[in-house]
Amino acid sequence: MQKIVVQGGLPLRGEVRISGAKNAVLPILCAGLLADAELVVRNVPNLHDVKTTLRLLAELGCGITLDDSFTIRIDPTRVRNHDHVAPYELVKTMRASVLVLGPLLAKFGAAEVSLPGGCAIGSRPVDQHIKGMQALGADVVVEHGFIKARAKRLKGARVVFDMVSVGATENVLMAAILAEGRTVLENAAKEPEIVDLAECLVAMGARIEGAGSDRIVVEGVERLGGGEHAVVADRIEAGTFLVAAAMTGGAITATHARPDTMGVVLDKLREAGAALECGEDRIQLEMRGRPRAVNITTAPHPAFPTDMQAQFMAMDCIADGVGVINETIFENRFMHVQELLRLGADIRVEGHTAIVRGVESLSGAPVMATDLRASASLVLAGLVASGETTIDRIYHLDRGYENIEAKLSGLGARIRRID
Ligand code: EPZ
Repeated sequence: MQKIVVQGGLPLRGEVRISGAKNAVLPILCAGLLADAELVVRNVPNLHDVKTTLRLLAELGCGITLDDSFTIRIDPTRVRNHDHVAPYELVKTMRASVLVLGPLLAKFGAAEVSLPGGCAIGSRPVDQHIKGMQALGADVVVEHGFIKARAKRLKGARVVFDMVSVGATENVLMAAILAEGRTVLENAAKEPEIVDLAECLVAMGARIEGAGSDRIVVEGVERLGGGEHAVVADRIEAGTFLVAAAMTGGAITATHARPDTMGVVLDKLREAGAALECGEDRIQLEMRGRPRAVNITTAPHPAFPTDMQAQFMAMDCIADGVGVINETIFENRFMHVQELLRLGADIRVEGHTAIVRGVESLSGAPVMATDLRASASLVLAGLVASGETTIDRIYHLDRGYENIEAKLSGLGARIRRID
């Protein structure tokens, strides 16, 4: 089992290149199943979850080729016309595998996808995904741990989601592309990753209006050609590095970024006392002295992203003042609290609220990663803790961050991976 060892106390300085967004590239790769020709995806991040998705697509019969610049070519023309099964072994390691459901159903009229099951941060149901497929005319049964869906041809419909769901919006959007007639998605998620997926689908010949708003209208088409798309920058990776720089009192520039997708996160960093300069694809941050504590309430985009909650909690741990953090999206996304307490933080959890009282300094210790963003918050805390912090189970980290220790080392951090 690999670990990461961080030596705290050094301000981060320099430039870091932001990779393509994990939460955009995963649905975009699945969208390749909808096409009759090759889809070329550029700016793909080198992540474990990307490799898992490619394995799943290959198992379904897609031809996959990787260029050295991590450009991926998906050839869906050899996908078999039968047994479209996303097996439990793959789905249990990555919930986003459920995103092959919509494309398989729309293109081949049948799909069997293992129920993803829960994960550390919550039960993660897929009832809205199923509701959307049924609204489009699919017969869906859930048995023996599988979602089994069938449909001669999907028919456009009006789908009103009971709650805002990124994955359900993406899955049903992809299913609607090849449905007959018009589909209207109401109460749709508005995340930038959905806009990016829609841009890729339109490049392939789809007809979509309103992506990025809570009402998306799709005019079904007969077929989808191939296409080419460069994945949007990862706003969560960028936010993670900016918080790291703010915590360490450093000055960094994030390049190949998309500040226009990060409004509320950048505002919160300013509120904490960071000086920010944004260009079209770059973000400069400088923090003098100790951050001020900030209050956070997570909610669907454009409100504060739940995927940045753990990172800002780490900053509040050493900030001046008390920060109150409300997690409204997932029922168990405070797994990092216990580990931050081991580093000397002062945090009290009451239900979905964490009250963080900033301390002068944290002290390094062995800690354990529990989920992707919790792992990131432990690395950030290690960057400021006195002495050495060792983070175990860092396979969580590798799911969503490309070479995080290389990028942090490039900014002057003393961080290394050990077996
Ligand atoms: C996506 O997960 C992201 N993952 C998550 O990022 C992110 O935290 C989440 O959106 C919220 O922004 C990917 O894009 C691959 P949801 P998703 O459906 O789609 C409930 C990371 O760290 N819900 O928007 O699974 C659900 O339980 C990951 O990069 C239902 O009840 O999230 C949750 O409470 C973690 N029924 C809420 O909605 C459903 O059918 C939002 O979930 C679907 C969701």
